[in-house]
Amino acid sequence: MRFIRTNDYAAMSRKAANIIASQVILKPDSVLGLATGSTPIGTYDELVRMVNAGDLDLSGVHTANLDEYVGLTHDHDQSYHYFMNQHLFSRVGLDLSRTNVPDGVSADPAAECARYDKLIKDLGGVDLQLLGLGHNGHIGFNEPQDDFPKGTHLVDLTESTINANSRLFEKKEDVPRQALTMGIGTIMAARKILVVVNGAGKAAIVKEAFCGPVTPKVPASILQFHPDVTIVGDAEAFSQLPF
Ligand code: GLP
Repeated sequence: MRFIRTNDYAAMSRKAANIIASQVILKPDSVLGLATGSTPIGTYDELVRMVNAGDLDLSGVHTANLDEYVGLTHDHDQSYHYFMNQHLFSRVGLDLSRTNVPDGVSADPAAECARYDKLIKDLGGVDLQLLGLGHNGHIGFNEPQDDFPKGTHLVDLTESTINANSRLFEKKEDVPRQALTMGIGTIMAARKILVVVNGAGKAAIVKEAFCGPVTPKVPASILQFHPDVTIVGDAEAFSQLPF
């Protein structure tokens, strides 16, 4: 694992965007695995800036997002479809047919999960997967549990995730209880992984996930077994690392 320590959120975002940009410059038809949450917003802002400056062309990429809430329509302002349009896709004029987010309003979630796994496979797999880190160690919406889920699947969100994400909804009752997420197997199949973490609130889980035992109780810990992981964090998020 490669740890890149930056001074603050802005520097973390620039560094992460540069890593994504270098991937796309070297392989313009890359498949980018994308993430939501507050952490990658600055990374997307930087990518938009690079595209507007003429330094980056995203028109040849395909994207596949990690996850989506069950029951939120694509135009719901807390859906991950909406998030991605708002923070990236619409701002860089990305052809939406090249973008993919699991469909949380599918009438048949199991079929939707199978479709999503096949889609990623048919695209040739993910070249670079961007990840945030949940406070309980989740990646995508793979919550702490007894095993590592393989493919895209339906999950029941834990109380801690519902609480953490309730800040974005009017009231806690509005937070969906379920989501569709790429599995740990799907994430681990990405050729490269880029994790972004910032803030003192992530310091303990950064240490536990990346220096502690590999266990499905801390889903991100499996990344220790991936051959090409880069973790870009600010000084606060890295403050408990022993190096
Ligand atoms: C959500 C997303 C995750 C994300 C996590 C952390 O639950 N499903 O993909 O990594 O939150 O979010 P934040 O970056 O806001 O801390």
